[in-house]
Amino acid sequence: MEERLQKILSACGVTSRRGAEQFLVQGRVTVNGRSAQVGDKADLDLDDVRVDGKPLKKVREHTYLMLNKPRGYVTTLSDEQGRPDVSQLIRTCGRRVWPVGRLDLDTDGLLLFTDDGVLTQHLLHPSHEVEKEYHVWVTGNLTYGLRVLRGPLQLDGVPLRPARVEVLEQLGDSAVLSITIHEGKKRQVRRMCGAGQLKVKRLQRVREGGLLLGDLPLGQWRPLTETEIRHLLDA
Ligand code: URA
Repeated sequence: MEERLQKILSACGVTSRRGAEQFLVQGRVTVNGRSAQVGDKADLDLDDVRVDGKPLKKVREHTYLMLNKPRGYVTTLSDEQGRPDVSQLIRTCGRRVWPVGRLDLDTDGLLLFTDDGVLTQHLLHPSHEVEKEYHVWVTGNLTYGLRVLRGPLQLDGVPLRPARVEVLEQLGDSAVLSITIHEGKKRQVRRMCGAGQLKVKRLQRVREGGLLLGDLPLGQWRPLTETEIRHLLDA
């Protein structure tokens, strides 16, 4: 989002807004290599803003990161049964962050972490139905299974919003499916596949809203980019 340079410089802790005006008058601020004037605007996501030749970095109050959770890790910060938990994998970030939502012990893939309570409540609220996409390795009668998955389904007596189900690969009675759901019921994808008599060999979350797991290695985390954070906060 474009903002006045005075506001950007003060938000980044460089100087006060009045001080920023002086910096601009003195020609100490450049945007994409060009000397900036008082009143000019820039977008820190897109523009290269520099003061005395040094690039500006946005100072954020909160931390946002994604982990590629491996199977065998519990989605909790401390497990009563002493099993490996996801906190052990994100310890190196040095912040007290928590997982937003959960993945089963046997599920791998994208897990979002933050220390932003407002965003957490917003994302987990039932009215906020962010799309979640899974890749699912299954075996069974695919003709029957796909018919059930694509048809009207209920869990716990409650109708589900229709899932988007695509076959990514198929070999005999084994397949890799892409299943996109809108709710976050407990073990939802496994129970949906169970209803279609499909056996789940592996379940991986690859997308949550606009956040993509991409090629993040298993067991690794990375901070979200400015653009990813902005999408999350605007969602
Ligand atoms: N659906 C499941 O069945 N398990 C998960 O971990 C996530 C979605």
